[in-house]
Amino acid sequence: MAKVTLLPGDGIGKEVVEAAVKVMHKTAAAFNLKIDTVEKDIGGCSYDKFGNPLTDDTLQACYDADAVLLGAVGGYEWENLEHHLKPEAALLKLRKSLGLYSNIRPAKIYPSFVDSSSLKKEVLDGTDFVVLRELTGGIYFGQPRGYNENRGWNTMEYSREEVERIARMGFEIARKRDKKLMSVDKANVLDVSQFWRNIVAEVHKDYPDVELQNMYVDNAAMQIVRNPLQFDVIVTSNIFGDIISDIAGMITGSLGMLPSASLGSKYALYEPVHGSAPDIAGQNKANPIATISSVAMMFEYSFKLPKAAEAIEKAIAETLGQGFRTQDIYKEGDKLVSTTEMTEKIIDNLEKILEAESKSIEAV
Ligand code: IPM
Ligand code: MN
Repeated sequence: MAKVTLLPGDGIGKEVVEAAVKVMHKTAAAFNLKIDTVEKDIGGCSYDKFGNPLTDDTLQACYDADAVLLGAVGGYEWENLEHHLKPEAALLKLRKSLGLYSNIRPAKIYPSFVDSSSLKKEVLDGTDFVVLRELTGGIYFGQPRGYNENRGWNTMEYSREEVERIARMGFEIARKRDKKLMSVDKANVLDVSQFWRNIVAEVHKDYPDVELQNMYVDNAAMQIVRNPLQFDVIVTSNIFGDIISDIAGMITGSLGMLPSASLGSKYALYEPVHGSAPDIAGQNKANPIATISSVAMMFEYSFKLPKAAEAIEKAIAETLGQGFRTQDIYKEGDKLVSTTEMTEKIIDNLEKILEAESKSIEAV
């Protein structure tokens, strides 16, 4: 039995998590995995109820779980709250409390999607890389931080241990892929980046089979839109990863498609890369694919069922191939569907894929 804590959060978070949970249970059943879920508040909705965007009760439910599935947090009504009460603060505290130091954001093009990107098909075709973002250090958490009337400041800081473990994970992921790691920094200007670069080079000695290159972050931003095929795994710091992963997300056609996994040594959290999209919340319009795909990552990383992950990814690709599109990715000639319809189509395809798979297993 596995325990999954659901944190739908704000805006479209509720709809996309509901969709993904259906897919999760369907898949789990096919692999004889029983999943128990509990649902808790996080973000603005938690602030409204409890005056706190992340309560101890929610945090405890995450500590008790094998995996956490999060929708999105934030919305206009909470934008002017004090820093530590904002929905975003809940997300940062959750990452820190669960020790989720690594954030894996794949940038992969679904074949039926090459025409939806802002990049030309020739540039994009075959793009498949991973952004590995350090998630619990750097300028997001460094002290001192603050502002007064005349000055504002933050601190970009990394310890040896923080760089070592994320670098190690980068090499490990690259080892299972095309064995190419690109470390992205700003070592021509920032001391903390030179430090990062030195440590990554040290860790590289344990991974001689992986090719390591370094790139400045401004150049990396440019290279990703110029020639994304050159990348296999990108490892980078918290803030650079935040920016780079949005660029990577955009070229794949829509941020609404991209999943993520945040892993530490003990806990794991899965969430779509997109935000809470308050403008379309509650209208059954949101694209559930990023969250469904995050569930696929959950099967892969938390439940060690790569075949289950594959089946979900296949079902998504199949559904897109059949022309079904939510409004964010809709073009003339496509079949426009709602959140729930898209989910049903994906589940239909998933059932067929799972059935075919179980037949082929029986046949063996
Ligand atoms: C992300 C988001 C968050 C971040 C915000 C909401 C705190 O942009 O997950 O990329 O900056 O990490
Ligand atoms: Mn971001």
